[in-house]
Formats: sequence, C-alpha cells, structure tokens
Amino acid sequence: MVSKMFRTRSIAAGIAVLALGLAACGGGGDDSGDGATTGSSGDSGGDAITVGFSQVGSESGWRAANTKSIQDTLTAENGFDLSFSDAQQKQENQIQAIRSYIAQGVDYIAFSPVVESGWDGVLEEAKAAGIPVILTDRAVDSKDTSLYKTFIGSDFVKEGERVGEWVSDNLGTEPINVVELQGTTGSAPANDRKSGFADAIKGNPNVKVIASETGNFTRAEGKTVMEGFLQAYPDIDVVYAHNDDMGLGAIEAIEAAGKVPGKDIKIVSIDGVHDGMVALSEGKISYIVECNPLLGPDLAKIIQTLHDGGTVEPRIVTHDDAFDQAAAIEALPTRQY
Ligand code: AHR
Repeated sequence: MVSKMFRTRSIAAGIAVLALGLAACGGGGDDSGDGATTGSSGDSGGDAITVGFSQVGSESGWRAANTKSIQDTLTAENGFDLSFSDAQQKQENQIQAIRSYIAQGVDYIAFSPVVESGWDGVLEEAKAAGIPVILTDRAVDSKDTSLYKTFIGSDFVKEGERVGEWVSDNLGTEPINVVELQGTTGSAPANDRKSGFADAIKGNPNVKVIASETGNFTRAEGKTVMEGFLQAYPDIDVVYAHNDDMGLGAIEAIEAAGKVPGKDIKIVSIDGVHDGMVALSEGKISYIVECNPLLGPDLAKIIQTLHDGGTVEPRIVTHDDAFDQAAAIEALPTRQY
C-alpha cells in the first residue's frame, strides 16, 4: 500500500507553485470511481489513484516538456497509476480516449483539449459516471462549469497582450508590417493569443497585421506558411508566432529566402522552450513570453487534494516570465526545458 503521507510528501517536494487555491479537508476518503487500473505507469499497488490523461499530441517542444512533466510526476512512486494517450491533434481521438477512461472507471480524468468547443457531451458522461475532470493547459467553452473541477494553465490572452505591448513599445515607433502565425484553429491558445495581441496594438496606428494564418503550432507548418508570406508580401517587418516552434520554422523560411532573422525581419513568440531560447540568445528571435509547460506537479497536487476531500479553485493561473536576449542568455544554463 502506498501511504498517503508518502504521497503527499513526495508530491509536495516537486511543487514550485504553492498558491494553487487548494483547501484540503483532511480525512482522505476515496470519493471517486471504482479504481480500475490500466497499469501503464507500473505496479503502484491497490491504493494508487488511477488517472486517465488525454494529451493533445506531440506538435511542439512545449508539448514534449508538458508530457514529460505529467509522466514524471504521476508515477507509481508518487501513488498514481497513469493511463496516458496522445490524440495526435484530433478531437475525436480525445473523446474516444475519455470515453475509454470512463469505461475503465478511473478515479480522475485530466486532459488538454485540442479545441475549445464540442466537449459538453463527453464531459456530461464523465460527470454521470462520477469521475472528476481536470482541464490542464487549455480551456473548453462549456457554459456548465460543473462539468470540470478546475482549469489549470497559463493566461493566454495575457501572453498575447504582453507580446503586443512589447512590439508596440519597441518596434512600433515607426510603421511596421506584422505577419501572424496562428496556433491550431479553434484552440484556446490560438484564439486568446490572437485577441490579446490585437488588443495590445490597437492603440498604435504604426503596427499593422497584414496577414494571419494557422501554422498549427508545428515547426514544419510554420515554415510553409512563412514561405507563402514571404512570396506574397515583400515588406514584412515582424513575425508574431503563437509558439516558438512556428517561430523557428519562420527562421528557416527567412534564411532560405536570403534574409537575416532578427535584422531584416524580427520574430516574437510565445513558449520559452529550449530551441526558442537558444534562437533568442543568438538574436534570431527578439522577444519571448513564456508559457510554463511544467504542469505535472500542480496536477498531482490538485488530484491529491480532491482525493483527500479538499476543494480547488475553479481557475488556477500559472506564472509565466518574459525574456529578451540578455534574459535568455542568463536563463538558458539552468532552464529545465
Ligand atoms: O496550449 C499550449 C500551446 O500548445 C503551446 O504554446 C504550444 O507550443 C502547444 O502546442
């Protein structure tokens, strides 16, 4: 048997963010499903908390870091039995995975929804089965917020605003043409980062977004879309990429077109993954707003709190930094991802 004391201590050791708005009631009653396990995280004994996690896919460096954080934390050693599935950026795969977790009777379901809409049906099924759901990283647009216990992740609108403010203040002192590489169509980060950026630049007539297209959060599609932009628009000053991977794809396209990223065309992006931070330290990217992918410890803490009979805040916003070139050089040696 995995003692609750051990679980609590080992999870707490890995938790960087303590202000989660969690209120444990103690007691430790098992108030959830029947605990059928799929055993994917190893032999954790009969008392392990069973968790089904449906991941978006493996589209970016951010996603790889997020997956690692979840798998490294929801371990048998920490008292969990994790079933993990990769939806390959397809909503139907996520719905299928969630239905299979419901059928298995896991104690908790967590997922990062690929798009915002279309979840009410499957979330109602989970609720009817008495399985608490936790949203990580991305939101759903369900009106009925009782369909999930909490949503933990970054404030994507704020991320877009911070990039827009930086562009407006640092590059928008003269007229500039911006092209935007959007994330996956219909996803919360694509919707919110677009609107946050638009809001931040709207008071500056110098900053004009001349084109905006999805690169689906991948390096390859970011490169392809940027190639098209370069052919269609000879006068691009700035690329706003909704994530580092698309920014890195844009760098490849810009270099292939014989231009110098960071000089001829500036790039700003969101995430702060290793390759993005290296490009920032080299001056190829000019500014990055972080999106913290290390959600595993907080997710473990949330599940443990619910399992112990406690409550959690309906929205838990994680902390994100922002980096220019000097800050990237300083941060890189100790960065975890
Ligand atoms: O939902 C978070 C976003 O998804 C990250 O910014 C992006 O890199 C990922 O694919």
